[in-house]
Amino acid sequence: MKFDIMTLFPEMVDSILSESIIGRARSAGKIQIKCHNIRDYSEDKHNRVDDTPYGGGMGMLMSPVPVYNCYQAITAGRDTKPHTVYLSPKGAVFSQKKAYELRDKGEIVLLCGHYEGIDQRVLDEIVDEEISIGDYVLTGGELAAAVVVDCVSRLCDGVLSDSECYENETFTDGLLEYPQYTRPVEWHGVRVPEVLLSGHHANIEAWRRQKSIELTQKMRPDLLRKQDVSE
Ligand code: ADE
Repeated sequence: MKFDIMTLFPEMVDSILSESIIGRARSAGKIQIKCHNIRDYSEDKHNRVDDTPYGGGMGMLMSPVPVYNCYQAITAGRDTKPHTVYLSPKGAVFSQKKAYELRDKGEIVLLCGHYEGIDQRVLDEIVDEEISIGDYVLTGGELAAAVVVDCVSRLCDGVLSDSECYENETFTDGLLEYPQYTRPVEWHGVRVPEVLLSGHHANIEAWRRQKSIELTQKMRPDLLRKQDVSE
């Protein structure tokens, strides 16, 4: 899987995505992440990348010129146009399902906005979809891009070890994950549920599903409504 991130703050995104599981997957060549500085593609003599909006209004907009130049440098020599995502609070809200879809694209370009946004013409020309990571406004798209890259990367072959497998976890089957316990068997006066100590696999499975349903009912009843779960 290959990610190209277009940003005014490449060190910010690169450092988040250099640690822990994602950092190791990069070093092992399981995924490729390149951060490109949009400012390097400015044609302005002072390297400016923003300008005032036509029609007036508050704040500054990112100019289409460096954004497009950066995009062209990334895509030069490629046979097909990579799927291009603009991170913005106006986009469709990101989900686990969308993460699988992006993983299946194989190559994606992520564009991070700043200031009051980006000139609409370059968005219309290069962007395939606009994604938000939630209904709140960040100072820029960098943290959102890191969230998307992290979430998509862990679905790629060889990124997680078998013990970190994602197949049984929250959202994968539309339910929240059941509670988990490890040693000691009693802690602060509370024992691990007996069924988990029983070694009876069918009972453990049934208990876990029951807990998943109860937890989803309590925390996210909206998810349960989409599921085929009896009373
Ligand atoms: N940029 C600013 N806010 C954002 C959000 N919520 N999601 C994605 N990109 C953003």
